[in-house]
Amino acid sequence: MKTEFIQELKTKHRIIIGDSRNMEEIDDESVHLMITSPPYPMIEMWDDIFRQLDERIEKTWEKMEVENSKKRKEKYIREIYELMHENLAQVWKETYRVLVKGGIACINIGDATRSFNGIFRLFPNHSKVIEHCERIGFVTLPYILWKKPTTKPKYKGKGAFLGSGFLPPNAYITIDCEFILIFRKGELRKFKPHDELRYASRYTKNERDSWFTQIWDIVGIKQTLPEVERRVAAFPEEIPYRLIRMFSIIGDTILDPFLGTGTTTKIAINLKRNSIGYEIDESLLPVIKEKVGITQKLLNSDYSVKIVKRF
Ligand SMILES: C[S@@+](CC[C@H](N)C(=O)[O-])C[C@H]1O[C@@H](n2cnc3c(N)ncnc32)[C@H](O)[C@@H]1O
Repeated sequence: MKTEFIQELKTKHRIIIGDSRNMEEIDDESVHLMITSPPYPMIEMWDDIFRQLDERIEKTWEKMEVENSKKRKEKYIREIYELMHENLAQVWKETYRVLVKGGIACINIGDATRSFNGIFRLFPNHSKVIEHCERIGFVTLPYILWKKPTTKPKYKGKGAFLGSGFLPPNAYITIDCEFILIFRKGELRKFKPHDELRYASRYTKNERDSWFTQIWDIVGIKQTLPEVERRVAAFPEEIPYRLIRMFSIIGDTILDPFLGTGTTTKIAINLKRNSIGYEIDESLLPVIKEKVGITQKLLNSDYSVKIVKRF
């Protein structure tokens, strides 16, 4: 009886082509879990999107590029970094509004290393996101370090250790982890005793033992994937798969405000959760459609997908 009910459950999915700094299409306290990977501040591949999103970033960037004084250049770099995080924080604020009490937000973000002004340095994006989310009111929970296959160690900010790379002290630690930050809105979610859907969503002992640890060794998206998957730095399906199983129950609603190629929607469909995804770049729509299976007939399917174009 119970299993039949779950098999019949039809889930709904919305893909909104629009800017998630405003999520007016979503009611307050209607989302149970948010999973996302935003553009990473100070990573070169995302410079253009931040410059297009906020005129202040574009203007400061232009001033920074032509500035000769190192001191003033440094000030502009700091301002740009702050503004990039301010833009992301608007999405975290909207997420807070739409999450139910006890709802969880999982943010996959990597720190950036970059040379400006002739100085190689770290931009610790994960700590900026934590600062903003705490200010918004989120409760910070222990986070996950996603260990990616190692790239070559760096020497003086350059690609690889050269012969002299064995001599202390001028080499740098290689960034080979990204963060999956975890936050909760307020107190724990409440359920009725023996909630059927909650029990049907349980994980196994092996899953619990390997998922609720701090280091996840998951192979990233392969370099042989289509250009578009690399262009948006799609995350491996294993990431949303685990997080959805860990922090939501069947029938819940999952939000991804930076949908990219639609990985979160695809996994939400497979795991019988509803979903909402925002993506600002309309050119990704054919890829999203392909990934979530709406190029095939959805008739008699156990899920429906609605695409909304805001522009
Ligand atoms: C790192 S990618 C997400 C990749 C995704 N996890 C996947 O598996 O394909 C970030 C995405 O956010 C989109 N984006 C950036 N700013 C946005 C905004 N303000 N609103 C909606 N989407 C945005 C970018 O176009 C990009 O596709």
